[in-house]
Amino acid sequence: MTTTLAAHTAATIPRTDLAIDARGLVKHFGETKAVNGVDLAVPAGTVYGVLGPNGAGKTTTVSMLATLLRPDAGTAEIFGYDVVDDDVAVRSLIGVTGQYASVDEDLSAVQNLVLFGRLLGKSRSAAKTRAEELLADFALEEAATRPLSEFSGGMRRRLDLAASLIDTPPLLFLDEPTTGLDPRTRSQMWETIRTLVAQGSTVLLTTQYLDEADQLADRIAVIDRGRVIADGTSDQLKESIGTSTLVLTPVTRADAHETARIAENVLGDAAAFSPEAGRVTVALHHPDRVPDVLIALRDADIAIEEITVSKPTLDEVFLTITGQDDPNEHPSDQEVDR
Ligand SMILES: Nc1ncnc2c1ncn2[C@@H]1O[C@H](COP(=O)(O)OP(=O)(O)OP(=O)(O)O)[C@@H](O)[C@H]1O
Ligand SMILES: [Mg+2]
Repeated sequence: MTTTLAAHTAATIPRTDLAIDARGLVKHFGETKAVNGVDLAVPAGTVYGVLGPNGAGKTTTVSMLATLLRPDAGTAEIFGYDVVDDDVAVRSLIGVTGQYASVDEDLSAVQNLVLFGRLLGKSRSAAKTRAEELLADFALEEAATRPLSEFSGGMRRRLDLAASLIDTPPLLFLDEPTTGLDPRTRSQMWETIRTLVAQGSTVLLTTQYLDEADQLADRIAVIDRGRVIADGTSDQLKESIGTSTLVLTPVTRADAHETARIAENVLGDAAAFSPEAGRVTVALHHPDRVPDVLIALRDADIAIEEITVSKPTLDEVFLTITGQDDPNEHPSDQEVDR
């Protein structure tokens, strides 16, 4: 056990090796089934990735685990403490990014971080040391003495993250921590997360960036429409959709739907396409049928710009198992489409 954890564990001692044990979590907002029966088991000392399209229920799930929202049904324990009955104990064991979003405008970055450190019970010198470490981690050293009112959006976001990492709790919830960050700051954030885990923290990370989950997460749960639709290590998820993937890029983006339909017909596997990239992705269980797909496309007068057969990336896993070309599209719309 590291000294960083001692401040938390002195008050509340973890009772189990499972940082998170959630069963059948449900949260409905009126007609919206935001979370509809989510199970999660997160071993202590790991990074757990929660992936899902917009509106999948990630933030709602995190909010229930972090005691910010009361579940309608189901149970969740954090290190053995119930999120409803033992909420005070749970709060002493967790940290949530964004919780310090309202930092003082008139103070400088370093003054804000020292202030938060002091509020968390650190001595003046410990607070100052931690503030300096975090400013370096988030590339804010040069801006350290400027007031926040002069900060850009990205700088402010980095300072928010830095503030949430002043104390390193046993379990940290990071809800899309790198959204909107530039690539350099993103990889610094990844390093910071790795350091936290090396020091003994557990991290639950929600992200839209599949490479982020691939890089950081020991295990990944894919959430869609309020349910966990797949979970496992990144390799297990990749294997689960077949050994390889056929990716077809039609010359004309408008042909993507028809390309997907033809590929599905010939291969008998579900296709998905990514609207931004204009690519059709099919899990390839019958590689010998690829020539038939090309012949069928030629017969339909669809010109293909690029064809690749490759091992799946996490992106393709995600598109294949969520099976949607528009995150906001309703499942029944898709059935009609096909
Ligand atoms: N307070 C609320 N009141 C009503 N509906 C809500 C509320 N919070 C979330 N929802 C709805 O619940 C569903 C899940 O939302 P949630 O914020 O958990 O998704 P998410 O996976 O975090 O999405 P994103 O990737 O966009 O952050 C959405 O349909 C959303 O509109
Ligand atoms: Mg969210």
